[in-house]
Amino acid sequence: MIPQSFIQELLGRVDIVDVVDRHVKLKRSGANYMACCPFHTEKTPSFTVSPTKQFYHCFGCGAHGTAVGFLMEYGGMGFVDAVKDLAQSVGLKVPDTRPEAAQRQEKQGDDLYAVMLRAAQYYRTQLKSAPAAVAYLKARGLSGEIAKRFGIGYAPDGWQNLASVYSDYEGKAPAAAGLVKQSEDGRRYDVFRNRIVFPIVDVRGNVIGFGGRVLGEGEPKYLNSPETPVFEKGRELYGLYQARRAIRDAGRVVVVEGYMDVVALAQSGVEYAVATLGTATTPQHVQKLLRQSDEVVFCFDGDEAGRRAAWRALEVSLAQLQDGKQVRFLFLPQGEDPDTYVRRHGKDGFEALLAGNAVALSRFLLEELSQRGDLATAEGRAKCVHEAKPLLKSVRATVLRVQLVRELAERCRMSPEEVGQVCELAPAAAKLRAPEARYPRAEPASLAHKLLGLLVSNPALADRVSTEQRSWLDAPEFTPVAELLDVLRESGASSPATLFEATRDSRYVKLYEDAAAESLAGAMEEEVALADLAGALSKLELERVRSEYERLTAGGARNDAERKRAQELLRRLAELKGASGAGAQTRM
Ligand code: CTP
Ligand code: MN
Repeated sequence: MIPQSFIQELLGRVDIVDVVDRHVKLKRSGANYMACCPFHTEKTPSFTVSPTKQFYHCFGCGAHGTAVGFLMEYGGMGFVDAVKDLAQSVGLKVPDTRPEAAQRQEKQGDDLYAVMLRAAQYYRTQLKSAPAAVAYLKARGLSGEIAKRFGIGYAPDGWQNLASVYSDYEGKAPAAAGLVKQSEDGRRYDVFRNRIVFPIVDVRGNVIGFGGRVLGEGEPKYLNSPETPVFEKGRELYGLYQARRAIRDAGRVVVVEGYMDVVALAQSGVEYAVATLGTATTPQHVQKLLRQSDEVVFCFDGDEAGRRAAWRALEVSLAQLQDGKQVRFLFLPQGEDPDTYVRRHGKDGFEALLAGNAVALSRFLLEELSQRGDLATAEGRAKCVHEAKPLLKSVRATVLRVQLVRELAERCRMSPEEVGQVCELAPAAAKLRAPEARYPRAEPASLAHKLLGLLVSNPALADRVSTEQRSWLDAPEFTPVAELLDVLRESGASSPATLFEATRDSRYVKLYEDAAAESLAGAMEEEVALADLAGALSKLELERVRSEYERLTAGGARNDAERKRAQELLRRLAELKGASGAGAQTRM
């Protein structure tokens, strides 16, 4: 857990303009900064960064958020990584509340990055003076430019080359990084020798490991860095760092099996490919991929091993999929891998195959299941449904599940309800109800909507709402406003950016984001905002007073107390009407 107070401090220190500008060159335009949006393809800039509000917003595609949000979106980082990245950029250290052992490990991690980086630099330099290695890469169709983009290097032959790189070659660090091993007689030696090396880079751009390929024939063909505190194979995807921009432009990411596949695809202009690192697809992989793109295409060899690997990818995808996201599977023709295919058929050929042959997850699922039981027999159909049960149960995307159940039911000659029962699925109808509270967008901007916009763009205004006024927000339509007020007062968030972090876990976060994006478009002076707030609050009061008055008089104010209250209300009503009329005039 990163303490809220630290996040507040951090967001107070970073400037979103600097953060964004490091990745997307910004141009000043009035009070804001503009650029072509990195989240969709466009020719004229509609991506705006507001230094005063510390928000970005794209008027074209609607992308918006804080500096943290930008790094998460653009960099594909998780929340913690984004915070760390920002902290590093302003020289802050994220306070560590974890046990000491874990802290030590992290410290070690920082050292490992440095060790890895030096090795990567060394290997890259070595490539320049290794004609055989260069010739190998050329023979595989790679240009110097692509080699550079992926930081490809060469580990020369020889047992202790890295001794010239690390003064503490015999020390802990190179061994902990997995670059050096110890033989039985206690002598140290380099792990990568006479191999092409592919640096594995995390989403923050740190080198965290290497894959090394022999030049030509030899065993093992690939040698990979061992897992270390900074390198977990089940989390990393080779090439993701380089592919991010292209993934966004293409609206899809292709997942292949090998380093060379990624590099060869990029060489041919298919820059949105990444690879798992010789491991089966994990839930973390899928999560990472779906965060980057709405469409993920797993690309496997057409053989039996490829289908098995695809099935594994399908199993983990089922639980990760959200409605609106798509996972597809592409099986290559026998004997081909993406590298050979794209070299033979080019970018267009590969993309044509993708368009024509990639099958939807649902189809792959149902076809595989159908093959497991003979659907012409009752037993076969029963087996099919039985095997589908754990798979269907794991699906969280409601619409997808409804579709799958319906299709399975058809194939197995059952009703969808029967399949639901046999598979013990919760009734879909209940789940189909919108899980997230949608905000009532009443005609000319409802009062609740107005209040929300004001608070989101000027969080400091929360202090100007009295406890009594807060108590007026008891109707359901005001719940998001009331909750926001409470969070703001509790966290002391005073800028839109800090507000956004404080409300991260709120069920209304989406609503707050929308309101923030909207208010960025119509930024206003603090004084005007304050006047607006006063106006909105008196309107709120006016409505309450009026309805209470109407309720009382409709019942025919039966006793003195009621009659007295009605009098009071009437007076207040007159006051409020006068005030709101005057307010409206001054603002005309
Ligand atoms: N792999 C590995 N160790 C091996 C073989 C393969 O770790 N001995 C992993 C590597 O990540 C490799 C991927 O599995 O990139 C795919 O392996 P394979 O299909 O055998 O290699 P290609 O990618 O086709 O490599 P190349 O084209 O260079 O022969
Ligand atoms: Mn290959």
